[in-house]
Amino acid sequence: MEKIVILTGAGISAESGLSTFRDEGGLWAQHRIEDVATPEGFARDPALVQGFYNARRVQAAKVVPNPAHRALARLQRDFPGEVVIVTQNVDGLHEAGGAQDVIHMHGILSGALCASCGHRWTAPPEMEVDEPCPACNAPTARPDVVWFGEMPYHMEEIFDHLASATIFAAIGTSGQVYPAAAFVHEAHAVGAHTIEINLEPTGGGFDDHLLGKASETVPKWVDRLLQI
Ligand code: APR
Repeated sequence: MEKIVILTGAGISAESGLSTFRDEGGLWAQHRIEDVATPEGFARDPALVQGFYNARRVQAAKVVPNPAHRALARLQRDFPGEVVIVTQNVDGLHEAGGAQDVIHMHGILSGALCASCGHRWTAPPEMEVDEPCPACNAPTARPDVVWFGEMPYHMEEIFDHLASATIFAAIGTSGQVYPAAAFVHEAHAVGAHTIEINLEPTGGGFDDHLLGKASETVPKWVDRLLQI
C-alpha cells in the first residue's frame, strides 16, 4: 500500500496572497526573526510580537485556498493509499481547501496558548498584550505558534509517518529550517521516492523535481498520481 507524506511550506500559500519568509520582500526582509519569532523577543516586547501575529492572523483570515491546497485535499480523498499532510505553515488554508488531519508542526495562527498553564483556545482576531488565559486567568496568552529555539509540535508522529512513507513530497519550502529540512533524508533512508515541488530546486537531494508555481504543478502532480 502506497503512503504519501507531504511537507508544505509558505510557497504553497504564496498564490493565495500570503507572504513567504525568504523570498524577495518576504517576512524576514520586513522583520528581524529575533524580534518577532523567538521567546526572547516576546519577553522583550510582547506588543511587537502580538502585533506581528495579529497582522498575519487578520491577513490569513482574508485569503482563500488556491488550486494547490485543493488538489492535496483531492489526493487525500481519492488516492487508494494513505496521504499525510505535514505543514510548516500557520495559516488554515489546507483545512479551508478540504484537507483532513493536517499536522501543523509550527502551530497555527488561529490558536492561542497560555504560557503559564498550557491551556489552548481559539485566538481572537487581534490578541492583546497580557490577554488573560480563560483557564488560569494569568496574563500570559501567546500565539500558539512555534518560535525559533522551541520544539516543533507532533515530531514523534511525523517521524513515524516518514518511517513508513513510500513517497515524500516537499512543496513550497526552501528547506532552510530544521527539523523539517531533514525529512527528505528520513524518507530516503526508508527507500521512499522523494520529489520537490517548487519554483526552483533547493538542493535537498530529491529524486525528482516539479518546477513551477504550486497552483499549476500540484494539480498536475495529483492528476499523475491518480492517473487522470
Ligand atoms: N509555488 C511554489 N513554490 C513557491 C512559490 C509558488 N508560487 N512561491 C514561493 N515558493 C517557494 C520558494 O521558492 C521557497 O523555496 O517557497 C519557498 C518559501 O521558502 P520560505 O519563505 O523559506 O518558507 P518556508 O520554507 O515555509 O520556511 C520554513 O521558516 O521562518 C520559518 O517558521 C517559518 O515555517 C517557516 C519556516
